[in-house]
Amino acid sequence: MTIEARLPGVRRIGGKWRISVALAASLVAVACGGTRYLDAAAPVEQRIDDLLARMTLDEKLGQMALVRQDAISPAQVTEYAIGGVLSGGGGAPQPNTIEAWLEMTGGFQEAALATRLRIPILYGSDAVHGHSNLYGAVIFPHNIGLGATRSADLVERIGRATAIEAAATGVNWNYAPVLAVPQDLRWGRTYEAYGADTALVAELGTAYLRGLQGDDLTMPDTVLATPKHYIGDGATEWGTSRTGRFSIDQGDARIDEDELRRIHLAPYRAAIDAGALSVMASYSSWNGTKVHAHRYLLTDVLKGELGFEGFVVSDWAAIDQIDPDDYDASVIAAVNAGVDMNMVPTDYVRFIASLRQAVRRGDISEERIDDAVRRILRAKFALGLFEAPHPDPALVAAVGSGEHRALAAEAVERSLVLLVNDGTTLPIEAETIFVAGVAADDIGRQSGGWTISWQGGVGATTEGSTILDGVRRLAGPAATVVYDPSGRFGGEGVPERADVGIVVVGEFPYAEGEGDTTRLSLDLREQERMLGLSDRVDSLVVILLSGRPLVVGDLMLSADVLVAAWLPGSEGAAVAGPLFGTAPFSGRLPMDWPQAGRYATSAEDGAVGCDVPVFPFGHGLKANEAFRLEPFGCDGGSKEADG
Ligand code: BGC
Ligand code: BGC
Repeated sequence: MTIEARLPGVRRIGGKWRISVALAASLVAVACGGTRYLDAAAPVEQRIDDLLARMTLDEKLGQMALVRQDAISPAQVTEYAIGGVLSGGGGAPQPNTIEAWLEMTGGFQEAALATRLRIPILYGSDAVHGHSNLYGAVIFPHNIGLGATRSADLVERIGRATAIEAAATGVNWNYAPVLAVPQDLRWGRTYEAYGADTALVAELGTAYLRGLQGDDLTMPDTVLATPKHYIGDGATEWGTSRTGRFSIDQGDARIDEDELRRIHLAPYRAAIDAGALSVMASYSSWNGTKVHAHRYLLTDVLKGELGFEGFVVSDWAAIDQIDPDDYDASVIAAVNAGVDMNMVPTDYVRFIASLRQAVRRGDISEERIDDAVRRILRAKFALGLFEAPHPDPALVAAVGSGEHRALAAEAVERSLVLLVNDGTTLPIEAETIFVAGVAADDIGRQSGGWTISWQGGVGATTEGSTILDGVRRLAGPAATVVYDPSGRFGGEGVPERADVGIVVVGEFPYAEGEGDTTRLSLDLREQERMLGLSDRVDSLVVILLSGRPLVVGDLMLSADVLVAAWLPGSEGAAVAGPLFGTAPFSGRLPMDWPQAGRYATSAEDGAVGCDVPVFPFGHGLKANEAFRLEPFGCDGGSKEADG
């Protein structure tokens, strides 16, 4: 009998003795005094039972707290046996480098491992279009642009790349994908969604989740996904928000159960079937009741009917909103409704004390606490954190890599939607090109919100390339490219005319309710200035950078070529590809492009009730397909098309 036959888990490979992971884990367990929960070979549910049985109440309550990174020290993570730490929008260390991220996340992880039971933390971040809090990470197009690509394969590869860049910095948990199905584009989070179609959101959301989690969540290059915000965040009604100056974000979804299920539930069903182990609750309400306090939605539907075995994480201080005057009552309501982990985000001492008091008084049962902790631990075991709590140093090389930038560039090209096309301008072949608009040369602007900071910013906020870079690259050495952000093209040596004028205009960065607005038109003064350009060029190409369809105005009507480029991210140069014919135009609208007035609330914004879209869902031309706007019959900014 050979040694291999006698000792299962031992094998000679290439002349060297090797043991299997399972055997190694068992040996570790023996060395740890037979501690069952540390035995990677034991079934996860048994490991959870074993660990739970060893935990004190305080250790359980600590697991239920998720704290913002600059509100807690590593020593306090140990003291309170905290379950998770997060970087919110812009929650980067200073300096914002990979090394500093590793030091920060590593410090918290070490602190968690220094607790009595050595339970690792989840470290979460909003890597919502790439690892977007990290300077130098590749920033992919926001989801609305990915929706235009219609490609699950592409979105899955983006999820993979994002997981790798996040995991490289010690982030093992991502607050993505957004599974909202936005019904009203005045909502500032419209661009975070893949589109306004339930099937599209379900398909691309699960593709992204598969990318993040890979086919084996224990591998070091995967992160835990978090479909959000459950449920109905895209269904809220204008004017119902009670948060600060928000209007629709975090508002009330006034729809019946049939509509809630038909439009907004299906993506969650798909994500759970695809292996989601954490879900973030929505700030919003359903017919007047906060989702965070909605037992039917969180417990009966999500955990019961949909069979969700992971944990529900609250949104940022969302529990506090349940009853703004009574924190303890809010905590009781949320936990009893089914929230398992509280994104506190700062005053975790108060949260833990409130929770402890609720348990002592019998307002929250110990069974509910055990269930919450069990769900949190399930995700930690599934991630393999007990075996490998620290990031794999080999991943660092992939952060901001050429390979990931090429993937982002592919996504940008495929996300462009050609809305209007005169049939002669494309592909651009020109001796002289005027490029206008501040946004043509602005990485921050083209990336939108959730980029380095929560709201995003203008200028060179991170590394990447701009649309102007791409035009210069593809125009060829013989061509003259003149850039004037103002669009005036005056002064010495500037040619009087150009063959082509490329104007880049659009929205400024925003995030969440800060982007709630009824003003869906371009800046009128900027439009007027850019319009002046049409007399000096043979063809006018207008590129829109925006998180949602904008109202068609004069500039858009006079465009020979009109392109929706969404929020392409750090690889802006790729926008030039389809314009110059090095890549096809293939994007299709992920939502209707409404007329002025579709969402107007006052005469000033346009007439109300213009329901026929200017461009319907699915619209998107090929470079050789001519299409001009038909005159459309509703007031409020609509005009007859020229030509
Ligand atoms: C944080 C964001 C968070 C927001 C909530 C900001 O300060 O950076 O991550 O979503 O607050 O209001
Ligand atoms: C947002 C979430 C985000 C969280 C953490 C909240 O304000 O609604 O989408 O994951 O902050 O930054």
